[in-house]
Amino acid sequence: MTIEFYSRLPLHGETQFIPGDSRNRGDWNRSLAESTGAASRFDIGDDFTYIDYLSQVARAAELNGFAGALLVNAPFGEEPWIASSILARETKRLRFVNAFHPFHFSPWQATQMAASFQRSSGGRLIWNIIQGGSDALQNALGDVLPHDDRYVRASEFLDVVKGFWANESFHYAGKYYEANGMGLRGPLRKAQIPLICSAGASDAAKDLAAKHSDYYLMLAEDPDVVATHIADVRKRAEAYGRADHIRFGLSVDVILRETDEQAFAEAKRFFDEGVRAGTVQMTAERSEHLSDTNKARYKRYNDREVNGFEDLFLGPNLWGGFGYIGIPPGFAFVGGYDSVERKIREFAALGISMFFINGYPHLEEIYRLGEHVLPRFRQEETPAAANDLQPIPLVHGPGLEARGAR
Ligand SMILES: Cc1cc2nc3c(=O)[nH]c(=O)nc-3n(C[C@H](O)[C@H](O)[C@H](O)COP(=O)(O)O)c2cc1C
Repeated sequence: MTIEFYSRLPLHGETQFIPGDSRNRGDWNRSLAESTGAASRFDIGDDFTYIDYLSQVARAAELNGFAGALLVNAPFGEEPWIASSILARETKRLRFVNAFHPFHFSPWQATQMAASFQRSSGGRLIWNIIQGGSDALQNALGDVLPHDDRYVRASEFLDVVKGFWANESFHYAGKYYEANGMGLRGPLRKAQIPLICSAGASDAAKDLAAKHSDYYLMLAEDPDVVATHIADVRKRAEAYGRADHIRFGLSVDVILRETDEQAFAEAKRFFDEGVRAGTVQMTAERSEHLSDTNKARYKRYNDREVNGFEDLFLGPNLWGGFGYIGIPPGFAFVGGYDSVERKIREFAALGISMFFINGYPHLEEIYRLGEHVLPRFRQEETPAAANDLQPIPLVHGPGLEARGAR
């Protein structure tokens, strides 16, 4: 199986120190006056702003052989469609995996925007369809649908997008969306529909992926848990005749150095920064209110469970420290070049073919990965496999009929 490496772009600031620390690049810092470069003054002619830093990261990613980059959508970060549209003209072949909520777009608007993006970028757009982490956050944005209903809406959204893409005159009557004869026409019709990624451990999230996604994405954690998710989603995909089609991606942080010892020293630096900034203690206190599963990750600080960075290893070279000190998503491969290669192969053996991997600062870790780890996998790629990212044809699974595609 070919492994594809994707980077991540830091759309809400760099965190080589704890979030909010003025030494971080960008202007997500507590003290704007102390921001280090790459901060906008909102003047026409601003010389270098944060997008220039993102551009440096994106170009470093493609120079170093990454196939693309993940752009997360957080309300307090740069918006992925806008950032990627700008960066597409500053890069040559990097793919952009843009996260967006169906709630924020109509299916037609998303279809037309994606077709334009594909035409002007050489087909470098990939979608990560997200539903929002919590009801509270969605409510704050004005989306009042409960969790599972958001996935039903997303499923219809993708029915309609795929319908618009495949037909010049598409008709659909669902609970949330209708289409009455629209579809891509003219030159836009020649564009390829973006590959679709989605994530989420809930039943609703897995069902959406089973029906619609080319890639189901997970965060790195205990390999047994990842294997269970993969088996579950594959099984659900059977109902749509897609068990052999759906593929799997993993997002994981990294601290990569020449040796394990050097990487562990950097993990310790992060952890100690967290202790100094109080984020370790805060996470530990909050963990008292988490579910049992999450509690296992965020253990007590200074109570024999977590006294130092070394207590946050879940297994060899798999470190849970970043989430713990306030830099989500969470688990990281921490180690020397050989150890990180081994971790990648371990997860690849579970069925992961797309790795979203990066560390902090993104720019420096991209170079380390690009120079010391990615080449170890390059000879295993075949030219055909590297280009075989074809979206799946529109699947007329049970959901589509049931929801009234006509
Ligand atoms: C690799 C990956 C990337 C994600 N990117 C985003 C994102 O950019 N924005 C977001 O709000 N949620 C993001 N998520 C969260 C998921 O889309 C999903 O909302 C979350 O896992 C909760 O799903 P559930 O409640 O259905 O289990 C991401 C998850 C993964 C694994």
